[in-house]
Amino acid sequence: MFENIINAIREKTDFVPRVAIVLGSGLGALADEISIRAVVDYNDIPDFPISTVEGHKGRFVFGYIGSTPVVIMQGRVHYYEGYDMEKVVLPIRIMKLLGAEILMLTNAAGGIGFDLDPGDLMIIKDHISFFVPSPLRGKNIEELGVRFPDMTNVYDRELIDIIKKKAGDSGVFLKEGIYAQTCGPNFETPAEIKLLEKLGADAVGMSTVCEAIAAKHCGMRVCGISCISNLAAGMTDEPLSHKDVQEAADKAAPLFKRIIKASAEAFGGLK
Ligand code: HPA
Repeated sequence: MFENIINAIREKTDFVPRVAIVLGSGLGALADEISIRAVVDYNDIPDFPISTVEGHKGRFVFGYIGSTPVVIMQGRVHYYEGYDMEKVVLPIRIMKLLGAEILMLTNAAGGIGFDLDPGDLMIIKDHISFFVPSPLRGKNIEELGVRFPDMTNVYDRELIDIIKKKAGDSGVFLKEGIYAQTCGPNFETPAEIKLLEKLGADAVGMSTVCEAIAAKHCGMRVCGISCISNLAAGMTDEPLSHKDVQEAADKAAPLFKRIIKASAEAFGGLK
């Protein structure tokens, strides 16, 4: 399964990661701050989806955070770029096949309801994915997981508690919330945000849930953190812009990076 891809990566590095990290908006620099052992450009991997979004590099960075071996996706692809869901989650499956057992997902998201302010970080405790197709649609890949995987506990409670503890060490209380994935690339309308709020969503974005589903399917332990980069559509009089989202994510990045690094290091000590 995916031999051509695994072989192409293994020609460049035999590094075996324990923790996989997907970096969202504003966080790309984290990959340059670890103890790097190898870098593989998505361009050099056959059949690999390449990000078309400005500000998203496209490469795997292998290395250590503390003593934890990690693989970092510096740049992800999104459904709105035109790729099928199966392609969007391919890098997640590849990181699992390279050895990663734990997946840490990050993103920038719009906050829904007035509990969250721009600049807040939110731990994802559950998700809503009805607005995008499942990445598991199509013939099941039996080697990865079962046809009808359970999604009762996608986000691992032990990992969540570690992240909260590490944030607490930095003096930050992390809220927990429900993240909804939409198709994008357009932001939502105020009416759509009201609907999402009624459905129980606390944050909305254009990534992450499909990756979490694919990771859960193939037996990874999953956690996710959103950086609330803006209040969702209709909650203020301001129109939404990608630039504002990026600026807010950049501003929250130092704290976000510290929490990710501390958590990844602690994940390395898990049985
Ligand atoms: N909506 C969807 N995706 C987002 C948003 C938003 O408000 N902010 C950052 N990503």
